[in-house]
Order: sequence, then C-alpha cells, then structure tokens
Amino acid sequence: MEEKFEVDAEDVEFESATFKESARRSQALWADLPQHPAKYRVLTGERPTGPLHIGHLFGTVANRVRIQNLGVTTFIVIADYQVLTDRDTADAVGQNVREVILDYLASGLEPSNGRTFFFSHSHVPELNQLLLPFMSLVTTAELDRNPTVKDEIRAAGLRQVNALMYTYPIHQAADILFCKGNVVPVGRDQLPHLELTRKIARRFNERFAAKSPVFPVPDALLSDLPVVLGTDGQKMSKSRGNSIMLKMTADETARVIKGAKTDADRNITYDPQQRPEVANLLRLIAICTGEAPEAVAERIGEGGGGKLKAVLTETLNQYLTPIRERRARYAADPAYVLEVLRKGVERAREEAAVTLTQVRKAMNMDHGLD
Ligand code: TRP
Repeated sequence: MEEKFEVDAEDVEFESATFKESARRSQALWADLPQHPAKYRVLTGERPTGPLHIGHLFGTVANRVRIQNLGVTTFIVIADYQVLTDRDTADAVGQNVREVILDYLASGLEPSNGRTFFFSHSHVPELNQLLLPFMSLVTTAELDRNPTVKDEIRAAGLRQVNALMYTYPIHQAADILFCKGNVVPVGRDQLPHLELTRKIARRFNERFAAKSPVFPVPDALLSDLPVVLGTDGQKMSKSRGNSIMLKMTADETARVIKGAKTDADRNITYDPQQRPEVANLLRLIAICTGEAPEAVAERIGEGGGGKLKAVLTETLNQYLTPIRERRARYAADPAYVLEVLRKGVERAREEAAVTLTQVRKAMNMDHGLD
C-alpha cells in the first residue's frame, strides 16, 4: 500500500478533485436509489449539541426523509461520544438526544416503518470496538492533514486538542461501517471523513480479508439543496441568536426574523453576491413555496426589508406548522420516544455484533470462540 505522508500544496488540489469525483458518484447514486432501494443502506447522523434548526431541516433532514421514503434502510447515529471532541462537558447531552429525536420524528423520519433506526454511540459497544482495528489502518500523518478537523479546532478556539478530536474521523468510519453502510448523505465538509472511511474499508479488505471483503466502500450522497444561513447571513448557530429551531413557536420565529439583517435598498432583488443577507431570506421563502428566489424577489418588489420579513414569517410559519404539531404530539409521549431509541439501539447492536465477529475472524482473533 503506497502512502503519501507529507502535507503539501497538492492537498488543496486533491481536495477539489475528490469533491468532483464524489459529486459524480453522488449523481449516479441519486439516479439509482429509486430504482434499486434494496441495494443501499444509508448511515448518517449528527452530534447532539442542540436541537435542530431549519438549516438542518432543509439541508439534511429533508433529504433523509426523501431517501427513507424511497424504501432505503436508514440508520441515524446520534453521535454522543463525538460531542466531547470540542468541549469538556456532557451536561446537555441527555437533553439534546431527546430533543434531536423529537426533531427527527417531527420532520418525518419514521422508525415505525421498520426500516429507519436511531441509535447513540454510547449504547453500541460493538461499534466502538471497531475503532481499535481501524486505528491500525490509518497513519498519524493522515489524521494531521484532515482539513475539517483543523477547521473545527479553529472554530472552537481550542488551545489543546484532545485525542478524541484527533481520532474521531476513525470513529466515524466505525459509525458507517458497523452496519455496512454504503451511502452516506453528508455535506461537503464531511468529505474528508468519508474519504478516510473509504480508505479504511479498502485497507481492511486488502490487509485482512482479501478473499472475501468484509466492508463495502461507501459513497457520499451530496445534496444540491442551497445552504441556509442564519438571519444575519452568517452560519446558523445557537449562540448568535440567528437560528430558527424546529422547536420554536410561531411567535419566537417571528421575533428572530424581525431581527434579521437586510439592507437599505427598498427594491428587493435576488443578488447573492451583492446582497447575501437578502438573498438568504429570499431562498428560505423559495424553499418553502417551491418558487425560484428571483420570482419571490419580484413578488416583493418595492416592499423593502419589512415586506420581505413579513412574507418570510408567514411562509415559514405555515411550512413549519405541521412539523411543530407533530413535534408537540411526540413530546407528549416520552415513552414512545424512548421505545424508538431502544429499538434503534437493539438493531444497531445486532448489526454491529455480526460485523465484529466477521472482523475478528478476518483478523485471526476469533480464537475458536466465535
Ligand atoms: N461529524 C458529523 C457532523 O458533525 C456527525 C457524524 C458522526 C456523522 N458520525 C457520522 C455523519 C457518520 C455521517 C456519518 O455532522
């Protein structure tokens, strides 16, 4: 196995080549998924760092619902261990796990179909155990040059980097491969992690299982949905007060939108370069109504920022009403929510146990016990 250890200027070029190649495969996948849903197994998820906002809904969750509804088995990892990559406290994790499950259910992910499973890292020991053999397949140089990890370290302002932050991309490979996931719906920022997962799958197969490969080499499924920014045109984040959470009431939503940034030009036009904040608000309306953002702009015309915000408030609240009603119904039934998680964990453990047995056998470590 040839490996390149040094970090060099070609890395940037490599990343963009990787993106193009991933985008090409992703497109082919989108075409094939509806034709052969049974061939695919989706694994994706997020860290339970807070309740979900409309950026999650429009960007990733809606996509998952779409794939689920094609008949594809879908595993969603609530990556609780991964929360500890950039903070020392797990105080909010329990609460956040419950909130995220409510958000998933409200958005239309349906474990009751028997094909959609939610589980948390912390309850699937067999998954976590895969981390050890996988660590042997990755070099420290490869971990050093992961651009997403570097960004996260910078964004969190970490003065010291814990070993989980450094190694979590390997753990993420275990998240994906424990259930033989072959389709991973993710944003572009996750592509370096997915590349690593692909390497781990290939290397494991080459090194330990040349005769009968244990792991699929998974593909990213990229979505063409527009990026949703916060109401100030920056990345949505709870601490900036620029996010609209699924759990908010209509009034709270109106308040956040009222504080949205616009500009002094009363004539509303869709101009993402010159008027990014206005463009973002227009795109939000467009997502809800299915119009083109240009058409929304034309409709608002000389109405200015006030009209733009009024239309957004009305449209978004209308769009979110059924989601919020579902959320409230599930929130009133904590026993059901718990049962969903319990079933998801059970199924994940079954899958992980089978995979771990195969892994031990392949590595000559079954010792006659498996
Ligand atoms: N790192 C991902 C994020 O921050 C969350 C995640 C954890 C994930 N495990 C995963 C995503 C496995 C896809 C597949 O969004």
